[in-house]
Amino acid sequence: MRYFIGNWKMFGIPSSHKILYKINAFFKRDKNNKKKYKIIIAPPFTLLHDFSKRFKSSKISISSQNCYHKDFYGAHTGNISPFMIKKLGINYTLIGHSENRASGENNKLIGEKISLALKNKLSVILCIGENKIEKRNKKTFSVLKKQLSQSITSKKYLKKIIIAYEPLWSIGSGRVPSKNELEKIIVNIKKYLNKKFRLKRKNIRILYGGSVDKQSVLNFKAINELDGFLIGGASKSSKNFIDIIKNFYK
Ligand code: 13P
Repeated sequence: MRYFIGNWKMFGIPSSHKILYKINAFFKRDKNNKKKYKIIIAPPFTLLHDFSKRFKSSKISISSQNCYHKDFYGAHTGNISPFMIKKLGINYTLIGHSENRASGENNKLIGEKISLALKNKLSVILCIGENKIEKRNKKTFSVLKKQLSQSITSKKYLKKIIIAYEPLWSIGSGRVPSKNELEKIIVNIKKYLNKKFRLKRKNIRILYGGSVDKQSVLNFKAINELDGFLIGGASKSSKNFIDIIKNFYK
């Protein structure tokens, strides 16, 4: 099963549901869809309730983009707990996106978010990735290992986590890793987690995110171990999002 996940970031108003209806219509008529891939869209908090109701009986799942790290309810102005998200009928949340890490989220906090999200029966899409300088200094894998080991604490958790490898230098830049570079990283992450948690490699899911579009997706088709994509900019247009899926299975 592969995943095509759209992260809308700060985009979307109520009428943006039209984008999802188009994606859903494509999915229904796509003969590749049979058990092959899953579509998840992460709109902003403001649209979660409406989208969750509208697409309840469709094959598209809805995800939140983040969640708070403690309590069901509390004096935490402007924040939303996993409990509140789950009550909307939502089953997924992104956690640890680099744009949130950039505003102060560290691995410890991200670990707390993961465990509270899982307690509330949300599946987690955990984002990890190195920046340009870390890459230049050949620190990529040590950065990824630290992000994983400091935020995932048990094998039980890992089964419910989809990992999205999103190098910061690639997000929104049009630059993507080469096929070989990406394949090596994906395989290394799987080996590392397999060794650390004794979970079979086939049960560990790793996605790639960063400037994925209908062109760049072609580079990655041949990576067997890659379990899908986390798509930012190109997920805001039904055509661009659908073209990625079409090109992947062409
Ligand atoms: P882009 O696809 O716009 O590079 O964004 C990737 C991303 O951050 C998805 O979470």
